[in-house]
Amino acid sequence: MRDARQEAVVDAWLARLSLRQKIGQMTMAERGSVTPEDVKRNALGAVLSGGGSHPGGNAPADWVRMNDAFWQAAVGDEDSLGIPILFGCDAVHGNNNVAGATILPHNIGLGAAGNVELVAEAAGVTAREMLASGLDWNFAPVLAVVQDCRWGRTYESYGNDPRRAGRFGRRYVEALQGEDIVACVKHWVGDGGTGHGIDQGETTLSWEELEATHVAPYYPAFEAGVMTVMVSFNSWNGEKCHGSRFLVTDVLKGRLGFKGLVVSDWDGIDFLHEEYATAVRLSVNAGLDMFMVPERWREFIDTLEAEVHGGGVSPARIDDAVRRILRTKLRSGVFDRPRPARRPGVEVACTGCDAHREVARRAVRRSLVLLKNAGNLLPLDPASRILVAGKSAHDLGHQCGGWTLSWQGEKGNDTIAGTTVWQGIHALAPHARLSEDGGDADPDRDDVAVVVVGETAYAEGFGDIRSGDEMLVEAGSAVDGLMNPLEPYARSQVLAEVHPEDVACIRRIAARGVPVVAVLISGRPLVVEEEMAASTAFVAAWLPGSEGLGVGEVLLGREDFAGRLPLPWPSAAGNVPRFPAGFGLDYGFDNAVAMAYKRK
Ligand code: BGC
Ligand code: BGC
Repeated sequence: MRDARQEAVVDAWLARLSLRQKIGQMTMAERGSVTPEDVKRNALGAVLSGGGSHPGGNAPADWVRMNDAFWQAAVGDEDSLGIPILFGCDAVHGNNNVAGATILPHNIGLGAAGNVELVAEAAGVTAREMLASGLDWNFAPVLAVVQDCRWGRTYESYGNDPRRAGRFGRRYVEALQGEDIVACVKHWVGDGGTGHGIDQGETTLSWEELEATHVAPYYPAFEAGVMTVMVSFNSWNGEKCHGSRFLVTDVLKGRLGFKGLVVSDWDGIDFLHEEYATAVRLSVNAGLDMFMVPERWREFIDTLEAEVHGGGVSPARIDDAVRRILRTKLRSGVFDRPRPARRPGVEVACTGCDAHREVARRAVRRSLVLLKNAGNLLPLDPASRILVAGKSAHDLGHQCGGWTLSWQGEKGNDTIAGTTVWQGIHALAPHARLSEDGGDADPDRDDVAVVVVGETAYAEGFGDIRSGDEMLVEAGSAVDGLMNPLEPYARSQVLAEVHPEDVACIRRIAARGVPVVAVLISGRPLVVEEEMAASTAFVAAWLPGSEGLGVGEVLLGREDFAGRLPLPWPSAAGNVPRFPAGFGLDYGFDNAVAMAYKRK
């Protein structure tokens, strides 16, 4: 009944809108390249904030003011079209573009925690902080099933198990959409399966293999009613997903019966063909509905209009796209909501509140994976004299990783609100001291050292590990269209080669007779044989986010280790993993509360 009523409303709109307005609804521009006046004049359907793109001083109030102005232009003025926009962003580990937001562990850490209710809580925190900024649409969750951890987006994946991705994705969607934020599963499809883990590369698999690993996690999300799907940059057997009528129209909309809207990725259509008109035609005819054309939106509108007039794109295809966009807007409730400044979620000053940080901290505690604990060095005694060292011991930027206030992430403690690992340890162990390079380690003064090392922040292809350019040539030559490879993060998976300062720091301290607990901050497993050999205990902390206290709580035995590897850990030799997926040690506490103050 509700569906029938909504379809009737959509029909009425389709009868009223001009071709130009319909194409406007299919267009999503980036906030930095578009004004409210542009939205009104061009009937734009959506606006997004790219990674790190923010209004004014980046407080929630600045976001609400911005969204209010866009809302006003779309529906509030006398000469407005009357169709609200959807404002979208990538809140992939909390509402991570906004200053002061709670930053949760990246998905790889939630995969290690292995707890689906924690995912729901994380989605709830994200949704409520988004509502407080007047946002509508989250380009999350990522359902990528990572196959090669050299991929720069490994940390955006819950791991290598399609069933886990499906279970977690479903709960994320339910929790997010339950709070009135539109979810977007991405990236359709095969993003985690590219050869050599090259971002935006080529996934070479039979349909059966693609289905079993990369399509499978989408089924539970569809059952949960996810409203939008983002198409992937990668190609499948040579064909770019953005131009694949088979994957988008035949499979997604046909066989799987998806009724919501399909959105392109950032400039994703540009790589289909050198000629823009051809690229536009191919992608619209493949079945994409909304187009993320951040800066090029005017050209997109003109080009698509000319394609329809020239017969390259049928009016029926345009109507299908607009029907799905309007249906999504009706179902999402944006039509019924007041202006962002008057929405209920806005009054709640929840951005970075204690309750949200508590959820994030719990997620940190459960995500940590203990890989080595010789002589039961851990848990540490809170009364002991702990030397805290390493380049990431006191660095929120490193700890949060990419997609945190900026696309590529931050360095240092000036922009992100939170607690570093050092601060977390110090809060629980008052005799701890910080000495970043550990040069003054002294067994008479220091009982034990915690050395926090690993990767600095990166996102997408800038995080790839690529040992040779021949890989790129090989991948590129298999692809129909243009490749867009970014400068990789590293040429090796061996941490000691990429960041020699880390093993140097561990060795410097260990050589003076102070036993070392190494804590690895990284978006993925790395080859850490040397670091592991030089330290007595070793913990994989992934990208824990803003709540470093969670790391301290587990190191100091307030809670047991619960994390298990969400994907295999590579060895120096390659073939055989160093640790299999599912591996993880613990203290063997029977009851975390009873053991809270266990002494060694
Ligand atoms: C990423 C997407 C993201 C989009 C918008 C793209 O580069 O691949 O995951 O949603 O940018 O920021
Ligand atoms: C944006 C990201 C986007 C990327 C794609 C960046 O400038 O901030 O959101 O994913 O470009 O190239």
